[in-house]
Amino acid sequence: MQVLIMGSGTAVAESAAERVSAVIAANPSATIGVATGSSPLGIYAALQRRVEMGSISFARASAFALDEYVGIPADHPQSYTSVIAQEVTERLGFDPQRVHVPNGRAADLDAAAEAYDAAIAAAGGVDIQILGIGANGHIGFNEPTSSFGSRTRVKTLAPGTRAANARFFESIDDVPRHCLTQGLGTILEARELVLVAQGERKADAVAAAVEGPLTAMVPASALQLHPRATVIVDEAAAARLTLTDYYRSAAVPLS
Ligand code: GLP
Repeated sequence: MQVLIMGSGTAVAESAAERVSAVIAANPSATIGVATGSSPLGIYAALQRRVEMGSISFARASAFALDEYVGIPADHPQSYTSVIAQEVTERLGFDPQRVHVPNGRAADLDAAAEAYDAAIAAAGGVDIQILGIGANGHIGFNEPTSSFGSRTRVKTLAPGTRAANARFFESIDDVPRHCLTQGLGTILEARELVLVAQGERKADAVAAAVEGPLTAMVPASALQLHPRATVIVDEAAAARLTLTDYYRSAAVPLS
């Protein structure tokens, strides 16, 4: 795993955007794994600038979102279908037909989950997956105790996750209790993973994911199993890491 400690949230976003840009420049039909939450928003803004400058285009690319709430309509402003349409599809100029979000409204959620994994496979897999991290170490909505082998499936949100996401809703009672989320096993199949975290609220989760034991109690520790995982954090989110000297020296290019 590579750990990059950046001087600002903007630098975190730029660094992650650079990796996504490299993938799309090498293959304009690449499949990008996209995430919701506030952490990746700077990445999308940085990518949008590149699109507007004409240096990259997502017109032929595909995207798969990590997760979706169960129990709210697709046109709810906080559904991940709405958020991805607004923050990713429109801003970056994806073809809406090639942007996929799990169907949290399906009558048969298990079948929808299975179909989602099949759609990722049919698209040839995810080339680069953008990830945020929850304060409890979740990625996607894989809450603590999620299996490292898990596939896309229905999950129950942890009380702390519902409390954290209440800021997007009128009250905590409006936050859905369930979701469909790519599993850790699904996420680990992406060819490259880029996890971003900013702020001291994420410092414990980042340290546990990067330097702690592999444990289902910290779902993001699954990144330790991936051959091409990069964790990009600002100084505040890096505050609980112990090997910062090493990460800083390893960030210097080979001469
Ligand atoms: C959300 C999402 C995750 C996200 C995380 C952190 O609930 N399901 O994909 O990484 O929580 O969100 P934020 O970036 O807003 O802190």
